[in-house]
Amino acid sequence: MTLPNGPQTPAVVQMLQWVATPMSFMEDCAKRYGDIFSLQLNMPLVLVSNPQALQQILTSDTKEFAAPSDLNSMFEPMLGKNSVITVSGEIHKRQRQLLTPPFHGERMHNYAQTISNITQEVIQSWQVNQSINQPVCIRSAMQSITLRVIMQAVFGLYNGARAVELERVLSLMMDAGGNSPLRTLLLYYPVLQRDLGKLTPWGTFLRRREIVDKLIYAEIAERRENANPSRTDILSLLMAARDVNGEPMSDVELRDELLTLLTAGHETTATALTWAFYWIHKIPNVREKLIAELDSLGDELDLNTINKLPYLGAVCNETLRIYPVGMLTFPREVKEPVNLCGYDLEPGTYILGSIYLTHQREDIYPEPKQFKPERFLQRQFSPYEFLPFGGGVRRCIGNAFAMLEMKIVLATIMKQLELELVTTKDVRPRRRGLVTGPNQIINMVVKGLRGSTEVLTKSVTNV
Ligand code: HEM
Repeated sequence: MTLPNGPQTPAVVQMLQWVATPMSFMEDCAKRYGDIFSLQLNMPLVLVSNPQALQQILTSDTKEFAAPSDLNSMFEPMLGKNSVITVSGEIHKRQRQLLTPPFHGERMHNYAQTISNITQEVIQSWQVNQSINQPVCIRSAMQSITLRVIMQAVFGLYNGARAVELERVLSLMMDAGGNSPLRTLLLYYPVLQRDLGKLTPWGTFLRRREIVDKLIYAEIAERRENANPSRTDILSLLMAARDVNGEPMSDVELRDELLTLLTAGHETTATALTWAFYWIHKIPNVREKLIAELDSLGDELDLNTINKLPYLGAVCNETLRIYPVGMLTFPREVKEPVNLCGYDLEPGTYILGSIYLTHQREDIYPEPKQFKPERFLQRQFSPYEFLPFGGGVRRCIGNAFAMLEMKIVLATIMKQLELELVTTKDVRPRRRGLVTGPNQIINMVVKGLRGSTEVLTKSVTNV
């Protein structure tokens, strides 16, 4: 099989670079080989960052291309075999039909209030003029918010004893995927996934997963016993669903889908929010413009207004452009012989869209390393030039939900509190398991109060 050019170093060397420094590795390859190149990881993979080629792939990923499940099996230890991420074809299509509506349309109105309320709860414990020895760790705070929000959407609860325990163990489990390259290697090489006791990374992961599973199965069992047709959370919706043969989802299927939403739905948005707080407070001009826009609204902070704020939207977009949390799309497989960027690719070739490289293209984003929200006010980018949520048949289900959450959390906090960065060094992106995040902890302190909490809470009820 002829593949596009790429580094000739041994596969093991490429894998180490891929795990330790994926972004600079991709950038070096793009400089040398251009918009399309091949890497030899645990198998050959073609990376693409050309918008026309991405359009070709993502608009045809049920014909010339497919969104297979085999490479997504690396998610199985966590999400199981029945997750929307680990299935493909018709089953995948049906699961998406079930999961997409709760994250769009009318439902979003209810979530707006939940997001605002939970944000208020989390910031209640932040002290004004706190010593810089006891700063707020923005990532932990954002993770608390986004995990509670997604638990409310999925289960309709986030503050009972079971929910609190689930929040605690899930956070530990996600953090364990954290910064260590060794842990990332575990995901790529199933042969390394051995339970060598509770003090080893995989052993710890398995024990935490067991607790999470017990909590989720207990919730499912309780719901089966006390069915309540008036509930509108996602678990109730999934329990009411029937497949083509009229069969309901089994407990294992429900567990896999719930865990998928809980994990995909909180770490990503928490990381994006952490970056947003960093950039807003790193660049005074960005903070000033954002505050001016929020203040121009008075106390009228309803969902529609927040969603349409141009500068707030531009800040969120630029945050997701410069260091996209998901640096790649899920893999696509060539199904029929196809020409991509001048290369004839044969069936069986695996392709990844490089979201990171596309967002760093100088021809689309001049001075790509600079954080400039204004670029989103000056021109519109196509869905293949700006694609933080991927595209095609595996496009992120939580796209609209995540954008809404980012905007409400930022508006709620920025409207009330004056924050300052404690972290003064330049922060760079770094792999966190399969997503990317800041390479250091971002701490902030509250310098003062800007507005009244009460007014804000009341006005968001207008949604
Ligand atoms: C800023 C936050 C987020 C970012 C940057 C993000 C990014 C992505 C990306 C890049 C993909 C792969 C798309 C592709 O291969 O074409 C994806 C898929 C997915 N995302 Fe998100 N996501 C975010 C938030 C969320 C939220 C809040 C949820 C759930 C409520 C969610 C659920 C999913 C699911 C279930 C998939 C798999 C879809 C499928 O396989 O059909 N994501 N996301």
